[in-house]
Amino acid sequence: MYNYTANTQYIGKQFLYLTTCHSTNDLAKDLNQRGLCKNGMVIFTENQTRGRGQQGTSWLSEPQQNLTFSIVLRLQHLSLADQFLFNKALSIHLLGFFRTYFSTSADAFRIKWPNDVYLHGKKIAGILIENSLKGSSINSCVVGIGLNVNQRVFDFPTASSLALAFNCDINRYDLFNGLLQYLDENLPLAFDSLSEAEIQTIHHVYDAILYGLQERRWFQSSGEPFTGILKGVDEQGQLILETTQGIELFEIKSIQFLNHPMN
Ligand code: BTN
Repeated sequence: MYNYTANTQYIGKQFLYLTTCHSTNDLAKDLNQRGLCKNGMVIFTENQTRGRGQQGTSWLSEPQQNLTFSIVLRLQHLSLADQFLFNKALSIHLLGFFRTYFSTSADAFRIKWPNDVYLHGKKIAGILIENSLKGSSINSCVVGIGLNVNQRVFDFPTASSLALAFNCDINRYDLFNGLLQYLDENLPLAFDSLSEAEIQTIHHVYDAILYGLQERRWFQSSGEPFTGILKGVDEQGQLILETTQGIELFEIKSIQFLNHPMN
């Protein structure tokens, strides 16, 4: 694996394999700041010792069982205001890859807002996107992916892995190779070349793959639990809920999903 040569145009052509690393996102950001990363560089580790998750959480992953890696991408013409568009496009293509690779029904894999990958109602992957800005545009971004592949024991009841869900061991390197190829072929990087129709398609498809779409669920905001029907995610990445107050929008940091759906 450490001699890996990606069969792609740009993702993984420059590849750094590490048996151990504190955080592939931290290392990618550091190397990128020093001008050492080409577009598509991938940093992969077998054992991440200080993995980071969204909103200051940690990402724990059993060594040699899963996939923990970061991709450095140069996004062209993506304004700060549109940054969630990339997030949506990435989520759509990750899901597209999983559905194709595992030949599942359309419903098996879902995206839990903003970009957790769920399989049969449990989290199997987390994504941490960290942008670096130039003026009001996104200059480059580090996409960190933690994918639970063969790990079988988790601290949280809502976490799972591909091996648990499909009840078999999975070839991590074949999966990784397929994922890089799929993203290389599908992920848009030049946002000014997307037509308005293509942009609207990204918004619609993202809504359609959301976990809990059109379902009444429990949420918590400012310490208060409440229920709402999940209607979608707007262009700025805010969650759209129908509550007793009508249609309400929530920013990522202002709301949490609670784990019991309402019937
Ligand atoms: C989340 O669900 O909170 C996001 C988890 C992201 C974890 C990945 S593992 C590779 C990369 N390096 C990190 O430190 N974090 C991301």
